[in-house]
Formats: sequence, structure tokens, C-alpha cells
Amino acid sequence: MTARRRHGPFIATTEHRRFVEFADAVRQNSYIGLCFGAAGVGKTLSARRYANWDRANPAPLMSYRASKAAERRIDAAMAQSRTVFYTPSVGASPAVLRRDINALLTAASTSIGIHLGQDPDATGEDQAHIELVIVDEADRLSHAALECARDLFDRADFGLILIGMPGIEKRMARYPQFYSRVGFAHHFHPLQGKDLSFVTTHHCRKVCSSAVRDSPNARALTAISRITGGNFRLLHRLLVQIERVLKINKLTAITVDVIDAARSMLVIGAN
Ligand SMILES: Nc1ncnc2c1ncn2[C@@H]1O[C@H](COP(=O)(O)OP(=O)(O)O)[C@@H](O)[C@H]1O
Ligand SMILES: [Mg+2]
Repeated sequence: MTARRRHGPFIATTEHRRFVEFADAVRQNSYIGLCFGAAGVGKTLSARRYANWDRANPAPLMSYRASKAAERRIDAAMAQSRTVFYTPSVGASPAVLRRDINALLTAASTSIGIHLGQDPDATGEDQAHIELVIVDEADRLSHAALECARDLFDRADFGLILIGMPGIEKRMARYPQFYSRVGFAHHFHPLQGKDLSFVTTHHCRKVCSSAVRDSPNARALTAISRITGGNFRLLHRLLVQIERVLKINKLTAITVDVIDAARSMLVIGAN
């Protein structure tokens, strides 16, 4: 589960739309795709959104008996997305990776089968309904775990996306077996231009709703953009500090001074 308190509602940015195009292409061609971008730009959230993972995640069906209505909702969401989202744990062994992904694939595919009216006993371990597997935090995978992912990919018909930090594409290039199967590489960029000002204004309204009367002006937006570099996570942190500064000083406008004071409270990335 993602911690919902850490972020507000999802915003369909240009970068998210680019990710959707990339994921569709990987899925349609059953390729391996690499998605890389700096920490905090929104890769995980975009991928979870694409997979509709807050609704379609079949984990409740595997671990405890969800209510019939909840089961049906998961089945329907899964049938629509046909995408599995997986985050390996730190230092996951190839055996654990194989077990986890296989279990997810089987649960997800069975869930889709049920939605389509198929007999779950007849389909058995069938994983054919899954069209795309997204592995987040792929930097965590050892060479052996990557080989395992490639093996799963070779045996099945789904596309596979690995998400990681910049540099992952260079690391993969050192594994020719894996790299030869990579069809697309996608750079996930920070927020820019209209997206950045929209998200900033939107966040300001949400995060600082009680204190702020006016939207930040152009100078303030430029300062926020300079400090955060369009990084979603940093933007969120900065706005939380801005809210504190406004409250402590009983102010109602996000000025450059307020932003500078907020920046000085941030620990990382704001220089
Ligand atoms: N499309 C989005 N809409 C709203 N908030 C977002 C979006 N993308 C990212 N965020 C915010 O940025 C934070 C970091 O995003 P995340 O996807 O975890 O980044 P990454 O995986 O690239 O490190 C999220 O917790 C959330 O607060
Ligand atoms: Mg992430």
C-alpha cells in the first residue's frame, strides 16, 4: 500500500501521459521496457495508476477472504487493467522473486478468469490473462534476479517494464541476454512548464488551504520551480514547510520570502 497521507489526489500530468503511451507500446509488442528517472519525479505513482493497483491488486484475494462484493470489484478492475505491479523487497533472492511474481500472476489471472465467467478450477495455474508486468525499484534486483525475471518473461506472453533510477539502462546494457530483449527505454522527466505551475497551484490550494487567500504569483512560482527542479516529492515537502511558515507568522500569501524561509527548513535537495 502507498501511504495516502503522503500525497494528495493523483494528477494526470504530461509525464504520466507519456508513461501511459510507453506502457501501452511495451504491452502491445510484448517487449521489455526500461523506465528510468530521478527519485521523486512520480514513476511509482504513474505506474500504480496505470495498473489501477489501488483497485486491482489481488493481494487481498491471496491473503484473506475479502467480501464477495470486494472480490468482484477486484476481479472487474483486474480484468480491465490486465497489469500486475510488483515491488521486490530489498535483497530479494531469485527464488523469492519467482515465487512472488508467479503467485501474483496466478492470482491476477484467476481473478480475471472469474470475471470472464471461467471456471477457476479448470484454468489452474494459467497466467494467460496478464498482458503487462511492471517491476518497480528494479535497481534492487541482482544479476541473478534479473535473469529470473527474463526467464519468466521468456516463458510467458506479457510485456515487462522495469522501473529504476537513471543509470539502470546502462547497467542493463552489461547483460546482453537481458538487454537484447529491451524494446523501449523511457526517461521519466520532472515536472515542467504548465504542469509545474498547475501542480504547484493545485498543491498550494490543498496543502495551504486554510492560510492562503491568493494563488502564488509568477515570481513565487519561479522560485518554487527553481528550488524543486520540478520534483514532485520535493515540491510536496516544500509546500508543507510553506504552510508551516505561513501559520507561524500568520501570513496569507506565498511570497518569495516565505518560500526562502520554507526552503531553509528542508533537509535535502533544496540548494
Ligand atoms: N501524478 C501525481 N499526482 C499527484 N502527486 C504525485 C504524482 N506523481 C508523484 N506525486 C507525488 O510525488 C511523490 C513521489 O512520487 P513517486 O511516484 O513515489 O516518485 P518516484 O517513484 O519517481 O520516486 C508521491 O508520493 C506523491 O506525493
Ligand atoms: Mg518509486
